Amino acid sequence: MVLPAGRIPEEEELLRRAMHVLPGGVLGGYYAPQDLAFIVREARGARLRDCSGREYVDYILGSGPLVLGHAHPAVVAAVEGQLRKGTTYFQLSEPTLALAEEICRAVPCAEQVRFCSTGTEATFLALRLCRAFRRKDKILKFEGGFHGTHDYSLMSVGPRAPKAFPAPTPDSAGIPHAIQDEVLIAPFNDLPETEAMIEAHHRELAAVIMEPFQRLIAPQPGFLEGVRAVTRRHGLPLVFDEIVTGFRFAYGGAQEYYGVVPDVVALGKVVGGGFPLAAVGGRRDIMRHLAPDLDGTPEFVAQAGTLNGNPIAAAAGLATLAELRRPGAYERLFATGARIKSGLEAAARAAGLAAQVAGEAPVFEIYFTERPITDYRSTLAADRDRHAAFTRAMLERGVVKAAQKFYVSLAHGDPEVEQTLAVFADALAAAAETTT
Ligand SMILES: Cc1ncc(COP(=O)(O)O)c(C=O)c1O
Repeated sequence: MVLPAGRIPEEEELLRRAMHVLPGGVLGGYYAPQDLAFIVREARGARLRDCSGREYVDYILGSGPLVLGHAHPAVVAAVEGQLRKGTTYFQLSEPTLALAEEICRAVPCAEQVRFCSTGTEATFLALRLCRAFRRKDKILKFEGGFHGTHDYSLMSVGPRAPKAFPAPTPDSAGIPHAIQDEVLIAPFNDLPETEAMIEAHHRELAAVIMEPFQRLIAPQPGFLEGVRAVTRRHGLPLVFDEIVTGFRFAYGGAQEYYGVVPDVVALGKVVGGGFPLAAVGGRRDIMRHLAPDLDGTPEFVAQAGTLNGNPIAAAAGLATLAELRRPGAYERLFATGARIKSGLEAAARAAGLAAQVAGEAPVFEIYFTERPITDYRSTLAADRDRHAAFTRAMLERGVVKAAQKFYVSLAHGDPEVEQTLAVFADALAAAAETTT
């Protein structure tokens, strides 16, 4: 299917207005090519509609929270029910307490929870907590790992010319130079090098933070176990950033899926049901630094937020989790993702393109390279122009995905999957035409 021809004048005008008041006319994070840019009017299930009335199968899903799809009836009902009781209290409420209890039941490492509003805040808080617990400043993160946009996390997420480990490369202007001295960078999936780095630096480290499934890269057998063992040996808190994987890879997240339990977890996206809610969970002896009885002591970690544990977001999160607890939910999510992922692999083979489809069934992406994708540096071998052409060609055919991944939801049914599979061949043919 090719999208119905261009934008109507009203949508053109909206895009002009956006350009005037928003830098680049965007929110940050997702940028469609100018000629294909659109403004969302509404979304339901796995489909979006723009202001020209064109429809898209959506694999962005709000950048991941909408594992049930847009406007799921159970989430809408829960939110409507809560709206009438008030929208925010800055005090504990029943839905928020219930969500904290559900997180502690579900996520193996979570003995206690502190809420915040975004994933960026959650990883920032997790690291501050670990610094207070260890009374050390430095953190170790992995090259290519993304933990949001605060100063400590935007280090070596996407360096074009990576430095020798463990030196970090800032990913943004405006980060104080001093932060570079506090962050060590290790290679994902390279256990000997990571172990050696931790052995050499553990006395100055506050924490090791990682995405257990890094962007689209699954951990190799033994890698997470090895990082767990060396951090445990040195009493060094291991933080899993499960903002993507939490409640998505399994009800207990990647720590359940891969069977390795960290000390602290950062949660976001799915847990807020499409509303601004995130959380840090972890061992009681680490979390205790947040308790107000320590206020005034050097051990106290200060954290507060106007919308912390917002009751509407908590209600949406609880409704989402209840749907995920239904028998067969994860089997269905994985089966849908596997169908699309293997369809993409087959289409790339049929097109004669050197390609790898990396990831797990609920989150995956194609890389145009012969090299297996095992770490950040192997992604640099992939053909970026070809990939941009593929993403663009999908959008031209009514399938919208983020620049770097497909998120799959329980709302993607047979019609959406078939529509997606049907456009792969043409989108890959368009990608193949890119001269490199
Ligand atoms: C692994 C990971 N950590 C942290 C974040 C930041 O979360 P937020 O965008 O809610 O600040 C993201 C966002 O995509 C993420 O994928």
